[in-house]
Amino acid sequence: MSDRFVAQSLDEVSFWSRIMKEHSFFLGLGFRCEDTVLKKEADHFYRVFEDIERRVHCFTLDVDPNTIKEFNKEVHSAVCHIWAFKRKVLGLILSCKLPGQTNFPLLVDHVSREANYFRNRLEELNRGQLEPLYDAIIDENVFFLRIMGEHAQFIGHLLDPSERKLAEQARDFSNDFDQLLVQARDIDSMRPQSQTAPILDQFLDQNRVSVKSLRDFKKTARDLIDQCKIKSIIHPLLADHVFREAERFLEIIDMFENSLKGKGRTQEIIHH
Ligand SMILES: [Fe+2]
Ligand SMILES: [Fe+2]
Repeated sequence: MSDRFVAQSLDEVSFWSRIMKEHSFFLGLGFRCEDTVLKKEADHFYRVFEDIERRVHCFTLDVDPNTIKEFNKEVHSAVCHIWAFKRKVLGLILSCKLPGQTNFPLLVDHVSREANYFRNRLEELNRGQLEPLYDAIIDENVFFLRIMGEHAQFIGHLLDPSERKLAEQARDFSNDFDQLLVQARDIDSMRPQSQTAPILDQFLDQNRVSVKSLRDFKKTARDLIDQCKIKSIIHPLLADHVFREAERFLEIIDMFENSLKGKGRTQEIIHH
């Protein structure tokens, strides 16, 4: 169990600390020139998560689990602080204190939900408390389907309006994920009766199809942006960032699928 704890902790922290670092960068880009204090705060978080990312890569799997437990606590505290910063920024935007800044309120809310997700993961890891598989399948899908749908919306809004075909594709993805999210919430409200292996298996299959095509769309968009072939105000790093989050969701879906099929060490409970 402690081997698994170490491996899972290192995996979560290395993925999400890079994400948190990039959020700091995106928020910093969106502030106005005069928002020097906010920019400084964003830079501070960039350095904090850059340092965490550097340190997590230095650990090997045979590290003492207690060292990782302490490390997780430290990361948890940093995540709580960046979460509070994001919520503060959201409050400033929604009360019109930063006219002209360019971060959408929904994007700021979105990145704060990702911080909250990371914070919960760390708490669960350190508590050693595992969520039952059937609950985890529903909760993770409800979380990530919303995230995916919002990515499609952000892409659609940040493309130049003259990119009509791409903007239309982004809108189609957004509608598709809205539907999937409502379906997921239906399954959620039908708990525990909806928690049968066939229903959850079908649920995962259906979600996987859409996430794969969204992932491919993001990859194409990322490559086109990198090659300067499309008109947009999407930073190349943002395109890559949302692509990696889709890959992460796909890995989670596959992991659930394997657990459902009884491949990967079937326990009634799993944790990732
Ligand atoms: Fe993100
Ligand atoms: Fe995201």
